[in-house]
Amino acid sequence: MKIALLGYGKMGKEIEAIALQRGHQIVLKVDEHNASTFTQEELQSADVAIEFSTPHTVIENIKKCIAAKVPVVIGTTGWYEEFEMIQELCLQKEGSLFHATNFSLGVNLFFKVNSFLAELMNKYASYDVEMEEIHHIHKLDKPSGTAISLANQVLEKIERKKNWSITAQNPDTLYIKDVREGEVPGTHIIKYKSAVDDIEIMHKAHNRKGFALGAVLAAEFIIGKKGIFTMNDLI
Ligand SMILES: NC(=O)c1ccc[n+]([C@@H]2O[C@H](COP(=O)([O-])OP(=O)(O)OC[C@H]3O[C@@H](n4cnc5c(N)ncnc54)[C@H](O)[C@@H]3O)[C@@H](O)[C@H]2O)c1
Repeated sequence: MKIALLGYGKMGKEIEAIALQRGHQIVLKVDEHNASTFTQEELQSADVAIEFSTPHTVIENIKKCIAAKVPVVIGTTGWYEEFEMIQELCLQKEGSLFHATNFSLGVNLFFKVNSFLAELMNKYASYDVEMEEIHHIHKLDKPSGTAISLANQVLEKIERKKNWSITAQNPDTLYIKDVREGEVPGTHIIKYKSAVDDIEIMHKAHNRKGFALGAVLAAEFIIGKKGIFTMNDLI
């Protein structure tokens, strides 16, 4: 495959390494220095684009891919309040889009464990539930996209929790504690606490390889397909 990397930072470079290992070619690399100058022709030289940029630049890049009729895999987080608009545009233009707040196989298995545990714990009001997410100091968005996905799963199953918050701590709010330290790739913990014991589940990424491999697998998957896809279509 010929790949366009929209966003050539920590993740873009990790994805490049894995894509080359799998025999693919990188035909375009975009970052803040050439973001305003790359052309539709350059983008159309690619079979697929992989977008890991910033919350402020992702929407423009998605629109460029849809206009150029180039399938796009989106890893950037912090933009999902615009998701409905993008979904509508993609379907209207018969585009191809694959999005995930977390591309790692491990986290997507963890999503299934989280949902199952929340369903179990709904019956036991003696347990309060809260979350913690830990990431490197450069991360722009709070809470992480993965934490939002995990929190929405808990809210879906635990009736006594009505919303999530990174500030408010009250009985019907799922509190998410955000920690920013060092170069942590991404750790997510869900804690059920009671007077007699605690139950905790945790996913801890050791590096970015899991995210990068998942993104390349998603790019291989989306070639030749129209519509909107997620990790549930891949796993
Ligand atoms: N979905 C996942 O599995 C997953 C995993 C890790 C990170 N992420 C998300 O991916 C995004 C990137 O993470 P990162 O660690 O690589 O960040 P980073 O800061 O290392 O890289 C971002 C890159 O985007 C470039 N950029 C700036 N403006 C641009 C534009 N208009 N077009 C293209 N590129 C532009 C910057 O120059 C930089 O190289 C973040 O939103 C992060 O939360 C998602």
